[in-house]
Amino acid sequence: MIEITLDIDEIRRAQLIDLFMHCRCAPRDFASRLVGSYLQDRGTQVCLALENNAALGFCVLDIYSTHSTVDYIGVAESHKRRGIGCGLLDCALELSIENTVPFVQAGVGATNIKSRGLFEKKGFSISQDHGSWYMMVKQIKQ
Ligand SMILES: CC(C)(COP(=O)(O)OP(=O)(O)OC[C@H]1O[C@@H](n2cnc3c(N)ncnc32)[C@H](O)[C@@H]1OP(=O)(O)O)[C@@H](O)C(=O)NCCC(=O)NCCS
Repeated sequence: MIEITLDIDEIRRAQLIDLFMHCRCAPRDFASRLVGSYLQDRGTQVCLALENNAALGFCVLDIYSTHSTVDYIGVAESHKRRGIGCGLLDCALELSIENTVPFVQAGVGATNIKSRGLFEKKGFSISQDHGSWYMMVKQIKQ
C-alpha cells in the first residue's frame, strides 16, 4: 500500500536524495544540498510516497502567505501511472488548504504531457502561457 508522509527521518532523507538524483538526473552533491535546504526551510514541505518503506515519489511545496507553489513533483520511473502522482498532489493540496492560501500554482513544461495531465486531473488550469512552459493554477475554496 502506498503511504504519503511528511515525516522524514535520516533514513528517508537518504532515500529522498537518491530519488531526487533519479528523477532529476542530478549529481549527488547537488541533490543532497537541495534536499537539505527543502528540509530546513520552514516554508517548504516535502510529501514523500512510500511503499514498504521504499521511497517512490516526492512533491516539494513552497507555502507563502499569498499562495503556494508546487516546486517539483516526481515519481520513480518503475512506479509511474499507479496513482502516486495524484496522491502526492492531494497531499500538497491538503497542506495548502490547512495554510489557508487562496490558490496553488505550478510551472509545467509545455511539452510535459504527463505532468500537465496530472495537474489538470487535480483541477488546475493554465493561467499564463510562457511559450516553453505554462503557469497552472488551482483556486482553493476555503
Ligand atoms: C508527472 C508525474 C509526476 C506523474 O506521476 P504518476 O504517479 O505517473 O501519475 P498518476 O499515476 O497519479 O497519474 C495521474 C494523471 O497524470 C496524467 N498522466 C500520468 N502519466 C501519463 C502519461 N504517460 N501520459 C498521459 N498522461 C499521463 C494522467 O492524467 C493521469 O491520470 P489517469 O491515469 O487517470 O489518466 C510523473 O510522470 C513524473 O515523475 N514525471 C517526471 C517528472 C516531471 O515531469 N515532473 C513535473 C515537473 S513539476
